[in-house]
Amino acid sequence: MLPWFQHALPLYLAPMAGVTDSVFRRLCKEQGADVLVTEFVSADGILHRNQHTREMLGFRPEERPLGVQLFGADPGRMAEAAKSVIEWVQPDFIDLNFGCPVNKVVCRQGGSALLKDCPLLERVASTVVQAVAPFPVTAKIRLGWSSETINATTTARILEQTGVMALAVHGRTKEQGYSGAADWDAIARVAESVSIPVIGNGDLGEVHEIAYRLASTKVRGLMIGRAAMSSPWLFRRAKHFMRTGQALPNPSIEERWAHIIRHCRTAVREGDSERHTMAALRGQLMAYSKGMPGSRPLRAELQQVIAVGDVEAIAERHFRICQEVRSSGVAGVQEPATGPAVWTFSRASSRRDERQ
Ligand SMILES: Cc1cc2nc3c(=O)[nH]c(=O)nc-3n(C[C@H](O)[C@H](O)[C@H](O)COP(=O)(O)O)c2cc1C
Repeated sequence: MLPWFQHALPLYLAPMAGVTDSVFRRLCKEQGADVLVTEFVSADGILHRNQHTREMLGFRPEERPLGVQLFGADPGRMAEAAKSVIEWVQPDFIDLNFGCPVNKVVCRQGGSALLKDCPLLERVASTVVQAVAPFPVTAKIRLGWSSETINATTTARILEQTGVMALAVHGRTKEQGYSGAADWDAIARVAESVSIPVIGNGDLGEVHEIAYRLASTKVRGLMIGRAAMSSPWLFRRAKHFMRTGQALPNPSIEERWAHIIRHCRTAVREGDSERHTMAALRGQLMAYSKGMPGSRPLRAELQQVIAVGDVEAIAERHFRICQEVRSSGVAGVQEPATGPAVWTFSRASSRRDERQ
């Protein structure tokens, strides 16, 4: 049994390519994430000693327990890559990606394509497990390729037989991509069908929902993805809710900006050029602005940033406007549905708390 399942129901940060780098993972860890997984890394990239791939493997001791996620469809190459990763960076576990829906992965039989080829999936998993034993191997799957071919229970049983020690299940099919709602009944059925820990994943964005999924299914942990991009504090709030039954308020605007600026400063300090780092962070900044007053004009401004100073200036202006709005009794920032991104304010009939 993996140690983090022994006394608790852990909250995982979902692997997200282009998002869950070491800086983001550490920030989520500080906010209560229990288990971290790198963004997916190609087995071929590892075997080719690709520099970018090696950079993606870097992590700090405080990120443990941490898994490196691998994708690929060749059993021998996956096993070789897993052994190299263990030798290079000694993660706490290797995670096998059987869920990625992206075309360039699927057309080479990797990711969710393996859900259509259970014999190959079994060979990939068992070859890796045997090659690195007793080092722990886990896996992440979707419900199946399409709604007509849902096979998560079968896949889970196969993976359990190969010696995979835990299984994350994203409650959508490959064909769904990210559309529709995650099917939690299907996740619950998978959790009932195997004795290894199942980690439920899909659309978890509210503390009540997190507590409900843990209480109403046999999952032994949960994995949070996109909601962590806009609200990394969700981990801490969910844990507080489960401990006390009380929902903590979301951080204030000031606290959010402090977090965002810290994220930018750390990324720039650890990255290469400031311009490149900040351009790569824009998507994350968009996510952070979700739910903030005036998020539409804010997004337009954040899309242009090329330096931490730009974000600091936007933060200062936004914070000042929010304060002015509050002190003048104007209840909210109203965004034009169309037209140029400008700050506009209107007097709303009821006072809206910025902590939403
Ligand atoms: C930008 C992005 C990148 C992702 N990259 C990966 C990845 O590298 N490996 C993986 O297994 N899943 C990946 N996923 C899927 C997530 O891990 C997760 O399964 C999915 O987002 C559903 O969870 P959520 O509703 O909490 O976001 C990615 C998702 C997003 C949005």
